[in-house]
Amino acid sequence: MSQVAHTTDVDDIPFPVQQGKRDLRHASWERIRELFALTPGAIHLNTGTIGAMPHEVLDTVDRVTREWTGGLMDIYPPSMYTEHREAIGRAFGVDQDEMVICHNATEGMARIVHGLDLHEGDEVVTTTHECYSVLSNFNLVRNRHGISMKTVTLPSGPDVRAEDIVALFEDAITERTKVLAFAAVTLFTGTMMPMRQLCELAQRHGLITVVDGALLPGMLDCDLRALGVDFMSCSGSKFQCGPLGTGLLYARNKIYPEYNPLPLPTFWPIISTWYPMMGSPPPRTMTSVESDNMGDYLQSAGSASIARGAALAKACEIWDEIGRDRIERRIMELGDYARERIATAFGEKSLYSPHEDTRLRSPLIAFHPFRDPEDAWNIKKISAFVSRLEEEHRIWVRWTEFDVPGSPHQHYAARICTHLFNNRDDIDIAVDTMARLAGEMS
Ligand SMILES: Cc1ncc(COP(=O)(O)O)c(C=O)c1O
Repeated sequence: MSQVAHTTDVDDIPFPVQQGKRDLRHASWERIRELFALTPGAIHLNTGTIGAMPHEVLDTVDRVTREWTGGLMDIYPPSMYTEHREAIGRAFGVDQDEMVICHNATEGMARIVHGLDLHEGDEVVTTTHECYSVLSNFNLVRNRHGISMKTVTLPSGPDVRAEDIVALFEDAITERTKVLAFAAVTLFTGTMMPMRQLCELAQRHGLITVVDGALLPGMLDCDLRALGVDFMSCSGSKFQCGPLGTGLLYARNKIYPEYNPLPLPTFWPIISTWYPMMGSPPPRTMTSVESDNMGDYLQSAGSASIARGAALAKACEIWDEIGRDRIERRIMELGDYARERIATAFGEKSLYSPHEDTRLRSPLIAFHPFRDPEDAWNIKKISAFVSRLEEEHRIWVRWTEFDVPGSPHQHYAARICTHLFNNRDDIDIAVDTMARLAGEMS
C-alpha cells in the first residue's frame, strides 16, 4: 500500500499571492516542502537515485492518463510534446528543436552514443566514474565498430581541484580522440565537473562533448547553450522530480560561435519515425538558424507516454515558478551544511567528495563512515549500513562504488543528497544517526 500522504489539494496550502496567483518565488521553504508527496516519518536523502514528486505532478499523471485512455483520439501529435519541449528548452536556455523528452538518462545516452558517427580507430576519452549507462554503451560501440575507449580515473577527496580534472583529460587526448564524455555531476563521489572548462578543452581539440546530465535538471540553473556542450542526456525523475520513466535529451542543433564555434557533428537520430523515409535531410546548418529540426527527428518515435511527458513539464513549470536560481542556491546551501556536519562527525578525510574547491561541490556527498580505513573495501559492511539506516531509522541514502587512483580495490562509500524539500533538521537527524550507527558497526 502506498505510504504517501494524500494532501492533493494544493490550494489548501497558504502561499503568498501576487496578482491573484500563488507566488512560489517568495514562498517559504517549509511551505514549498508541503508541495511534495514525501513519505511521513522518513527522511529522503537519496534524490540522486529518485526524487519525490510534487502532488501536482502525480495528479497530472493521473489526469492525463485518464484523458487519453480508450478514446479514438490521434495520439501522435501530442506525442511530439511540442509545447512542453519549448517551455523546458527555455528553462535551459535552448530551443525546441534541440530538446527531446525521452524515457530516462540511460535511453537518452544510448540514443546519443549510437547516433554518433564513430568508426574503427576513433577514440573516446571518458572516466571510470561514469554511470554504467555511459560505459556500457560506448563499450558496445567499441565491440561493434572497433573504436577505442580511454578511461581516466578521477581523483577523489576533499582537496581535488578543477584544474587537476581538466589536466587529466588533457593528458589523455590523442590525435585519434573524437569524443570527450563526462558527467555533469558524478554519481559516485558527487563531483561537480568543471563543465565549461572541459567543453573549452574539447573545442580546442575539435572534439564532440557528450555529457551525462542525469543529475543536472532540477539541481542547477543552467544554460546548456552557454556551456557549449554538443549533447546531454538527463533524468527527469531525479532532481527534477518528474515521474519515473522520464528524461531529457539535448542535441546542439545550431551554431553560436561565442559558446561553441565547432561545426555540428554528424549525428544519426536513431529510433525515429520522422527521419525521412527516402533521401537525406538537408545539410546541417553553419549558422544560428537551424536547417532542420533534430529534436523532432528524435522525439517522433511512435506513440509516447503523453501523461508522463505532461507531468514532467508540470514539474519543470513548478521549478520555474519557484525560480531555478533560488532552488540551486537552496540545494547548495543545504549541501554545504551537510558536508560540514559530515566533516565534523566523521573527519574531513572521510570525504570522497570535493570540499576545498567550491567550484566542484554538489549536493551529493560521499564519505567513509567507519573508523577503520580498510572498511572502505568492505561491500557487506557498507550495504548493511545503508540497509539498517533504511529499515531501522527510515533514512534513505545509498552506497556507491568507484575506482580510486592507486588503490588495488574499488572503494565503497555512503552517499547522501540534499534537495529543496529537505531541511537542516533532516540533515541533523541523519548525520547523528549515521554517526551512532557507524560507531556501533565499527
Ligand atoms: C550520473 C548518472 N547517470 C545516469 C544515471 C542513470 O539514470 P536513469 O535511471 O535516468 O537512466 C544515473 C542514475 O542514478 C546517474 O546518477
